[in-house]
Amino acid sequence: MKFPSKVKLVDVGPRDGLQNEKAPVPAAVKIELVHRLQDAGLSEIEVTSFVSPKWVPQMADAAEVMAGIRRQPGVRHSVLTPNMKGFEAAVSAPRAQWPDEIVVFAAASEAFSQRNINCSITESMERFRPVVAAARERSIGVRGAISCAVGCPYEGDVAPAQVELVARLMKDIGVQHIGVADTIGVGTPDKVQRAMEAALKHYGLDELSGHFHDTYGLALANTLAALEMGVWQYDSSSAGLGGCPYAKGATGNVATEDVVYMLHGMGIATGIDLDKLVDAGQFISDFLERKPNSRAATALLNKRVA
Ligand code: HMG
Ligand code: MG
Repeated sequence: MKFPSKVKLVDVGPRDGLQNEKAPVPAAVKIELVHRLQDAGLSEIEVTSFVSPKWVPQMADAAEVMAGIRRQPGVRHSVLTPNMKGFEAAVSAPRAQWPDEIVVFAAASEAFSQRNINCSITESMERFRPVVAAARERSIGVRGAISCAVGCPYEGDVAPAQVELVARLMKDIGVQHIGVADTIGVGTPDKVQRAMEAALKHYGLDELSGHFHDTYGLALANTLAALEMGVWQYDSSSAGLGGCPYAKGATGNVATEDVVYMLHGMGIATGIDLDKLVDAGQFISDFLERKPNSRAATALLNKRVA
């Protein structure tokens, strides 16, 4: 079995991790988290979402957060933009504050599409089409997320054929990269591999990433299963923060610290300094007054005390 020799991790903690927090997290804290993640060697950070503040109040400060980030060469910053309104808000700032990449997000299940973005899968593609075109005209990268790629909180199991369909629709509208997302963390390694195979019918290995929530504790196993297939790009969340407001009970993404510990142990390069990453996770966990939701971070922090 040959694993990739390097892996790119996108830390989605500031966005996916914080979007579900009930108490407001000040923009300055989000900005500091982004700075700490880039200092730790993350080459891409998903910073925020330009979505309706009525739907996701925690992301209402998207423009302020983007404006406050000290950009670092070699680090990409991405944001979610579900429609033209969100995209226009993201690029209404001076060019230096534009995102390097935008994310449009669809679902492999109709029910989740309705609950999350208030439209059908087909309608979502029509909303995304001008967003994708406008981003590409400005040389902003475009990633597409496919939520509920293995299971849906409303419909149960999701067939790989649904993932293949949404991947094809995304390809048709010009999305350059897709993320296969286990939104509610119900996937098992075999199911995740089937979902990845379905996505690979329309996208190459270099245009594909995994986004695994850890509700049932299998996100790391699912990462390993995708690695076995050669998938080398993953979203993860520092301190295992997060969840989706429209996927009740689902926990955060796989903790970046846990993925980095596993990859480095396997001799796979990430460019990330694990100690600095643990500090970043500790920073946001302290602010939220909880312990990092990462086994590796906990072990490393205990070792520092001992
Ligand atoms: P809608 O209500 O259908 O939109 O929402 P609309 O076009 O009818 O507009 C209704 C109101 O929203 C209007 O305001 C618009 O101006 C406003 P009003 O006139 O009533 O005062 N509006 C906006 N405001 C700010 N920014 C915008 C925007 N668009 C409309 N971009 C919409 C459609 C998609 C906007 C809404 O459903 C929404 O914001 N949903 C939020 C979804 C979300 O953020 N979910 C969490 C992120 S996705 C995720 O976590 C999954 C992922 O991690 C992968 C995985 O794990 O599965 C990516
Ligand atoms: Mg997610």
